[in-house]
Amino acid sequence: MANKFYITTPIYYVNASPHIGHSYTNIAADILARFMRQRLGRENVWFLTGTDEHGQKIQKAADEANLSPQEFVDKVVVQFKYLWEKLNISYDDFIRTTEFRHILTVTRVLEILKNKKPTPDIYEAKYEGWYCIPCETFWPKTQIEEKLCPDCKRPIEEISETNYFFRLSNYQGWLIEYIEANPGFVQPANRRHEVLSFLKLNRLTDLCISRPKERLSWGIPLPFSPQHVTYVWFDALINYISAVGTFDKDGKYISGWWGKDTQVVHLIGKDILRHHAVYWPIMLHALNIEFPKDMTIFAHGWWMMGQDKMSKSRGNAVAPLDMADKFGIDTYRYFLLRDVPFGLDGNFSEESIIKRFNSDLANDLGNLVYRSLTMVEKYFQGKIPQEGVLNEQGKRIKASIQALSTEPDLALNIGFNFSLGLEKIWNLIAMANKYVEETKPWNLVKEAKTTELEAFIRLLVDVIKAVADAIYAFMPDTAKSIKEQFGDQEIKKGSPLFPRIDTKPKN
Ligand code: ME8
Ligand code: MG
Repeated sequence: MANKFYITTPIYYVNASPHIGHSYTNIAADILARFMRQRLGRENVWFLTGTDEHGQKIQKAADEANLSPQEFVDKVVVQFKYLWEKLNISYDDFIRTTEFRHILTVTRVLEILKNKKPTPDIYEAKYEGWYCIPCETFWPKTQIEEKLCPDCKRPIEEISETNYFFRLSNYQGWLIEYIEANPGFVQPANRRHEVLSFLKLNRLTDLCISRPKERLSWGIPLPFSPQHVTYVWFDALINYISAVGTFDKDGKYISGWWGKDTQVVHLIGKDILRHHAVYWPIMLHALNIEFPKDMTIFAHGWWMMGQDKMSKSRGNAVAPLDMADKFGIDTYRYFLLRDVPFGLDGNFSEESIIKRFNSDLANDLGNLVYRSLTMVEKYFQGKIPQEGVLNEQGKRIKASIQALSTEPDLALNIGFNFSLGLEKIWNLIAMANKYVEETKPWNLVKEAKTTELEAFIRLLVDVIKAVADAIYAFMPDTAKSIKEQFGDQEIKKGSPLFPRIDTKPKN
């Protein structure tokens, strides 16, 4: 196990407000960061998020808003930061690609690759062909039918211009070998296969990394050609290293978060897999940057609205804050990670949130907490009783508590399987609720079996405390509230955590 952990999210385009899809990646990253802080200590975890602020999309949105690009991005970035704060996203650093530290690093990367000896990795050439403006993607003639973008199906344009290219094609063989030798590099496994078969079936063409200024001025100027700015994807990927390190005068990258003792996780959605699994490792390799001990690109699935991906451009985006306001922040966090196995697509609907809420949160967790508080209050005047001798069922529960705290799946090797982790926690909650129903504590009271009653209630309290620790990363406010209600020796009963949502129409 590496002793440092560096986790990143995509840096989001600030052409529009964040939606549920963006919050999904950041909540997942937050959960991993919190897990790893519990394991490695706060100082050994670094959690980076940020915003992608250059390029055509942003320039266009700024034009439409009648603002300069800088004014525009300064306004929209506030919405992202506000949302992350509301959702308890505990990032350590927020990078904006318009920041000086980032521009400086991108400039250095361009210089280093352009000056590389004996063969420069960046060269100048004339480009003639098809270009999709909204996607900012060049398309070879062979992939074009009916002058529409193969990706977004919008009309494309024929262009002819001088540009700069990054020699991706030189590294195709190396990348195939790297991915084959490092099975954990691209996850989940189906995405790894997807990348490998793409690499094996196609010849990589070099990547055009510049845009002529007369067509697009909102970008980082190329240090060797003032008539060009940097292609937004080449600029954006560099954020992962510009935020946590610098290049020294010899072009060596120096960072406390990118070394042999670090595990690096790039969480992304499957829409941007190729940029991360093909361009990015090749950029790092071309820069002679040593790979971390352990590096993973994990591409999760999409939140869908019916048949369509949720996205701003399709006009079906749901605002995360509306959902968090309506159902609570922790309910929202829980729902996203519990309802769909990480990696697969999921359908978003308020009905499914309500269903999860009423069954898992109100019925299972909320009920266990509330009935336990009530019993400690009623039978022991609020004092938490001593441990005692347990029956068979009690012993099984005790063993499950121990298993939960040492459960490797829940901690380091969660394998990104958040929903399974939660399922295991909820198994224990279900066991404890069943224990209450089968023990019938009111009978123990009637029969004055005080020591049995003490042991029984103390075990429930122990279950709840273990559950609070285990759900902390997922639901930090709920964990905190439970911990406050169950002290070392006594309880402090609050109001119910998750009062049921009534779905029956009132008449
Ligand atoms: O692509 N379901 O930014 P972007 C799940 N700036 N996740 C979703 C989603 C959905 N329906 N929609 C978006 C960019 N996401 C680039 C990234 S990184 C160096 C540059 C999430 O604003 C998911 O993480 O289009 C996806 O990869 C990301 O938002 C795309 O955000
Ligand atoms: Mg997108």
